[in-house]
Amino acid sequence: MERIEHLPNLRARLAEWRAAGERIALVPTMGNLHQGHLALVRAAAERADRVVVSIFVNPLQFSPNEDLDAYPRTPEADREKLAAGGCDLLFAPAVATIYPHGQAGQTRVEVPGISEQFCGASRPGHFVGVATIVCKLFNMVQPDVAVFGEKDFQQVLVIRRMVEDLSIPVEIHGVETVREPDGLARSSRNAYLSSAERARAPALNRVLEDAAAGVRTGRPLAELEQAARQALEAEGFVPEYFKVCRAADLAAPGGGDADLVILAAARLGRARLIDNRRVRR
Ligand code: PAF
Repeated sequence: MERIEHLPNLRARLAEWRAAGERIALVPTMGNLHQGHLALVRAAAERADRVVVSIFVNPLQFSPNEDLDAYPRTPEADREKLAAGGCDLLFAPAVATIYPHGQAGQTRVEVPGISEQFCGASRPGHFVGVATIVCKLFNMVQPDVAVFGEKDFQQVLVIRRMVEDLSIPVEIHGVETVREPDGLARSSRNAYLSSAERARAPALNRVLEDAAAGVRTGRPLAELEQAARQALEAEGFVPEYFKVCRAADLAAPGGGDADLVILAAARLGRARLIDNRRVRR
C-alpha cells in the first residue's frame, strides 16, 4: 500500500490507474480505524479495481467546543490495518494541503434542508464542514464510487443530496453499521466511554430495536419516541434526539410512508453516541 500526502503525487498515481481503465473507489475517513471502516474498504474493493482511503481529521466539521484536539489519532495502527485490509492508496494530507488559504477563508458547500435538523441542529456548522471536505475529496480523487457507513445515516443523505445538486459524477454506496457483539455500533468515539459507561452503552441499540418493534405493530410514533427517551434516561444517557422519520428525506412520516428510519443521538458521560434503525411498517 502506498501512502501519499501531497495532491500532485495523488493525481499522478490516479491518472496512471485511470489510463489503465481501472475503476477507483474512495473511502473518506478521519482515521482511528475499526472494523466498521474495514467493512467500508471491503465494500469499496468489491466495487472498484483500486481503493483509495483518505485519513483527515477535518477541523471544519468540529465546533470550537467539540473534541477536535482529543479526537483519537492512531496513524501507525491505521496504516497497518489498511495495508492488511485491501487498501491500495492511503491519502493522508496535512491541514495546509486541504485548506491552503486557512479554514476561515475556505469556500464552503452547504446542503440546506436535510442538514439542518438532528445532528445539524445540535452541531451547528457540522454538515457544512462535512459537505465541504467530501466535495473537496471528490474533486481531488475523482472516484467512480465512494463508500460511507450508514451509522451516520443523515451524513449519507447529505452527501447524496450534495452529489445530486452539484452533479458530481460519483456513485454513493452506503454500508450497514458494524456492531460489537453486544450490539453497540462501532465508533471511534466509543473510546471516550468509561468501563461502566461501556457496559451501559448497548442500551442505545436495544432501545432502537424496541422502538422498531413498536413501529411495526403500529404504536403511535410520539408515544414510542417518548418511551425511548425515558428508557435511555433510565440507563444514564442524556438523549439529544430520538425520532422516527421518513428514510428518504428525514421528513415526519405521513400515514402512507412505509420506509422509515429511527434516528438517535444521546450523550453517555463524555461520549456522544449516534445510531439508527431502518424499519418498514
Ligand atoms: O464520517 C466521517 O468520518 C467524516 O464525517 C468524513 C465523511 C470522513 C468527512 O470528514
